[in-house]
Amino acid sequence: MTTRPQIFINPKSGSIRFTGEANFVDADGNILETRSDFKLCGCGKSKEKPFCDGSHKDKSE
Ligand code: FES
Repeated sequence: MTTRPQIFINPKSGSIRFTGEANFVDADGNILETRSDFKLCGCGKSKEKPFCDGSHKDKSE
């Protein structure tokens, strides 16, 4: 049985959790990297974009 990747968008933090495996590609479709089970930044505060580094929890701003 194949399990489809799943995406959960946290409505509070804006983080986007991806469960499964995905290829990151360039504009020509060449695979740059393959990752599984990661979080993307949706809040714009991460210093490791496109990935979430937990900066959305920072209340100092
Ligand atoms: S969503 Fe986590 S740092 Fe942006």
